[in-house]
Amino acid sequence: MNEFSGDQNFKISNQKVTESCPSNIALIKYWGKYEKQIPANPSISYTLNLCKTNTEMEFVADETFSVQTFLAGKEEVKFAEKIAKYFRSIEEYLPWILKGKYIIKTENTFPHSSGIASSASGFGAIAKCLMTLDQSFSGQTDECFTLKKASFIARLGSGSACRSLYDGLVVWGETKEVYESSDLFAVQYPNDEVHDVFRSFNDWVLLIHEGEKAVSSTVGHGLMNTNPYAERRFQEAHENFATLKKILKQGDMNAFIQLVEHEALTLHAMMMMSEPAFILMQAGTLAVINKIWEFRKETNLPLFFTLDAGANVHLLFPSNKDEDKITEFIIKELVQHTQNNGVVKDMMRF
Ligand code: DP6
Repeated sequence: MNEFSGDQNFKISNQKVTESCPSNIALIKYWGKYEKQIPANPSISYTLNLCKTNTEMEFVADETFSVQTFLAGKEEVKFAEKIAKYFRSIEEYLPWILKGKYIIKTENTFPHSSGIASSASGFGAIAKCLMTLDQSFSGQTDECFTLKKASFIARLGSGSACRSLYDGLVVWGETKEVYESSDLFAVQYPNDEVHDVFRSFNDWVLLIHEGEKAVSSTVGHGLMNTNPYAERRFQEAHENFATLKKILKQGDMNAFIQLVEHEALTLHAMMMMSEPAFILMQAGTLAVINKIWEFRKETNLPLFFTLDAGANVHLLFPSNKDEDKITEFIIKELVQHTQNNGVVKDMMRF
């Protein structure tokens, strides 16, 4: 039992709800977890603006429990099985959840098979739909609690999804550096602790490799259990939070760049040091990283990168007077390393 355990007093009815949820990109990475989706270390991400999942959930009350899913209009049986399993696993928190059938229609605003992780926005949108249904069935109307529970429910679907429920900088995982941070749900990083230079940021995603990832995040997290460097990594993530807190307050862009790139490379280093080892970066990823470093050395302009668990490169740069010089460089020098001239231009949500 915890504060999210569901109330047995509910009244179900047929409903159709629609919700939208953005994706997010981690700056301090979540990589490694324990039972029940408890993260091995705290993480912090920027919520994106344009990369979103839109989901329509139709609930037909008092029918035998079943789930049918459509992704961009196409029926997806495997995805439906995954969602049905997920719904069964969260009955304790939403006691009405198995008392009907679901038709779920979902689409992403970013290109299909782009390699951009859709699990964060996807589970975020599903959790929001479930909480809208829950409010209607249980009569519970506390918006703050609903959002917190949506984050809790999203986490049980995919860890990083719990961060997508909030705008701006979002923390998941208990750290003494962030008040009320929790392993169970995400919280917004206090806005007044963030210097203006970090409030308006671009994230252009270079699609180095489109399509399925060679190793799923779930398998990758699992390999941290036997990685001899794991404990040191988890400790470092905690230390990086203390450093980042000062950087965010002071507006120290150079230190921010150093920390964010170090986190991205550490994530991939952990993959390379797993047993069996795996490498998700590709030749294009490395070429782009080297060009970014050369560009910074020559111009001193704040263009830097982060990576998720794949080959794509997230190019981060502030929206300011230097933006045009940076975008010109990206288009002239970096886009050539993508598979199909693929660039998804997004920015942070604040
Ligand atoms: C590298 O949230 O996709 O993007 O909890 O197993 O669904 P599951 O994993 P997932 O892992 C994301 C890992 C990451 C880093 C991050 O987003 O913090």
